[in-house]
Amino acid sequence: MTWLVILLCFLGYMAAHIADISVQNQRLMDNELINLLLKLRNEEFYDTLLVYGKDCEFHSVIKNVDVAVVLVSDSMNFEWNFSSLTLILSCGPDIDNGGPNSTSIKLQRNRRLVLLKEDFQPSNICNIYTQKEQYNIALVRENFTKSKSIYTCRYFQDPNVDEVNLSGTKPIFIEQFQNMKGKAIKIVPDLLPPRVMVYQDANDGELKMIGYVANLITNFAQKVNATLQLDFLKPSKSITEISRMAKDDELDMGITLEASLNTSNLETSSYPYLLTSYCLMVQVPAKFPYNLVYALIVDPLVLGIIFVLFLLLSVLLIYSQKMSCRDLSVANILLNDKSLRGLLGQSFPFPLNASKKLRLIFTILCFASIMLTTMYEAYLQSFFTDPPSEPHIRSFKDIGKLRHKTIITAIEANVLISTNNTQFLDIPKKHLCIYENWRDWLAMRDTFNLSYNYLVTEDRWSSYAEQQKLFKTPLFYYSNDLCFSRMIFLSIPLRRHLPYRHLFDEHMMRQQEFGLVNYWKSHSFFDMVRLRLTPLKDLSQPTVYNPSLLMEDISWIMKIYFVAISLSVFCFTMEIGWDKWKRWRD
Ligand SMILES: *[C@@H]1O[C@H](CO)[C@@H](O)[C@H](O)[C@H]1NC(C)=O
Ligand SMILES: *[C@@H]1O[C@H](CO)[C@@H](O)[C@H](O)[C@H]1NC(C)=O
Ligand SMILES: *[C@@H]1O[C@H](CO)[C@@H](O)[C@H](O)[C@H]1NC(C)=O
Ligand SMILES: *[C@@H]1O[C@H](CO)[C@@H](O)[C@H](O)[C@H]1NC(C)=O
Ligand SMILES: *[C@@H]1O[C@H](CO)[C@@H](O)[C@H](O)[C@H]1NC(C)=O
Ligand SMILES: *[C@@H]1O[C@H](CO)[C@@H](O)[C@H](O)[C@H]1NC(C)=O
Ligand SMILES: *[C@@H]1O[C@H](CO)[C@@H](O)[C@H](O)[C@H]1NC(C)=O
Ligand SMILES: *[C@@H]1O[C@H](CO)[C@@H](O)[C@H](O)[C@H]1NC(C)=O
Repeated sequence: MTWLVILLCFLGYMAAHIADISVQNQRLMDNELINLLLKLRNEEFYDTLLVYGKDCEFHSVIKNVDVAVVLVSDSMNFEWNFSSLTLILSCGPDIDNGGPNSTSIKLQRNRRLVLLKEDFQPSNICNIYTQKEQYNIALVRENFTKSKSIYTCRYFQDPNVDEVNLSGTKPIFIEQFQNMKGKAIKIVPDLLPPRVMVYQDANDGELKMIGYVANLITNFAQKVNATLQLDFLKPSKSITEISRMAKDDELDMGITLEASLNTSNLETSSYPYLLTSYCLMVQVPAKFPYNLVYALIVDPLVLGIIFVLFLLLSVLLIYSQKMSCRDLSVANILLNDKSLRGLLGQSFPFPLNASKKLRLIFTILCFASIMLTTMYEAYLQSFFTDPPSEPHIRSFKDIGKLRHKTIITAIEANVLISTNNTQFLDIPKKHLCIYENWRDWLAMRDTFNLSYNYLVTEDRWSSYAEQQKLFKTPLFYYSNDLCFSRMIFLSIPLRRHLPYRHLFDEHMMRQQEFGLVNYWKSHSFFDMVRLRLTPLKDLSQPTVYNPSLLMEDISWIMKIYFVAISLSVFCFTMEIGWDKWKRWRD
């Protein structure tokens, strides 16, 4: 009995083992492919497999790998919403056709493994994919189990196919655009200082670019060992032409910044480079002239309070002298000389044997007089040293009260209108001046022409602010209350299928991270001065002689004084005359 059990167990074990071996034999090809997939996963992680094409070996392999699989049989005509860590397995050399640009952009960089019939030439396939701007391609033949060799396309290598051994250590996919070996990048600069400034180098006579956008691109080209192929816009074209060229694949990178007000251009622009606001640059309100300073500090409300104080003190003085209301009359109250002199800080007779209450009231009077005279003294002296300025405008509703109109180019006006910018629509039409020629408009802004207020982004403002530090008095200020948008992302226009877009985005973020962009921005004004694009001088045209208070400014006080004196003389003579006349009649 025991022997039988042991024998049966042994037979069962043997049967299972033999079955296992035969399955293994069947799946030899699969095993090699699985090894390849594991090797690829070690090289760079993926969590999704996209299997493209009619039934082939890949379809049996994917049952044994534990990653998500997307099966596509004929067309890529859908929006790719799955993971970006995807490995594409292609059955046969057919290149997926059609599909929206968003899907092809998202999948452009992903690695692709193509299974070929034995008679296909790998170099042909590589050329076909290269024309489609897909560079991460590896090919295996159907006799892969025996040969164990993988063909990979190397774009920057001649001939462009490399054979890799599965058990070797050579990587199958490499970052091809890490070293572009002098390949040209087509760029079009907008030549707007301080973003991009082109100059001829004095040493080697070459055209060079600086500026906080140009530096980003030149550094990138240096990093990936590429050359820059410079193209210029025709002077008649506007800078939106660069975005148009990027959309139509006429350039690789535009050296300009475009605002992402429109989400439709996400495919043809980089990751946001700068975050900025877009506000008005308003003239600093004028200071009040010196001859108005006195009128400024004589506030009617304060005068009223002083007058009420004077009346109260007069009533108290008269009442507490005799502790009775007998002497209270309008003339006594209004023309109380003690109270008046006291408030004006003058001396006045202090009655002998004054009661305690009266002394208390005199104390109050003296205190009030000290407060009043010192307050006005301080006010007057500080305003004479630095006269106050006219009020700042704080909302778009009041913008009509600004002394100067706001000038805007037709291009910007159209963008603001088409995006339904409520702030812009709030501005009264008669306050706006829409200007067609944007180059003239820029020149006016750059020379701080005081005829208008201007629109400016904060990044451009930073160099104006730097320039204004040279001025005796600043001419403009950046109004944080009058903003059309407080958050604008500025990005670089790129061609839709730019194969090194990911390298460029990463490079851009690194430059930001190291603070280089802020450094360039802070230096941009001095770069402009160095290239003689802006003068290093005070454009505020300071007046040499700043007239202070003149005799004629206070002449009206004298005039009023003379009128009052003449009036009193007239009253006095009338009174004497009236008295004489009455006596003569009696
Ligand atoms: C992907 O997302 C878009 C927008 O959310 C949707 O219209 C589209 O149907 C999705 N595609 C797939 C294949 O789910
Ligand atoms: C897709 O890209 C091509 C060129 O890259 C362009 O001509 C075409 O208009 C784009 N399609 C869409 C729907 O944007
Ligand atoms: C695999 O196929 C290719 C092309 O037909 C041939 O050149 C190569 O020798 C084959 N490899 C093996 C190991 O049979
Ligand atoms: C692959 O590499 C291994 C070790 O590096 C070597 O033994 C083998 O012969 C190579 N195979 C081919 C086909 O080159
Ligand atoms: C950069 O590209 C040039 C070709 O333009 C090449 O000769 C050089 O070796 C490359 N530099 C590096 C570091 O690979
Ligand atoms: C946004 O894109 C649409 C479609 O491309 C275009 O009609 C519109 O003028 C664009 N708006 C702006 C402000 O650029
Ligand atoms: C702009 O606003 C008007 C009225 O509020 C509305 O009819 C129109 O559709 C809006 N346009 C856009 C592009 O949002
Ligand atoms: C400012 O612009 C106005 C209007 O274009 C022009 O008449 C004036 O000469 C300019 N002023 C200066 C200082 O350039």
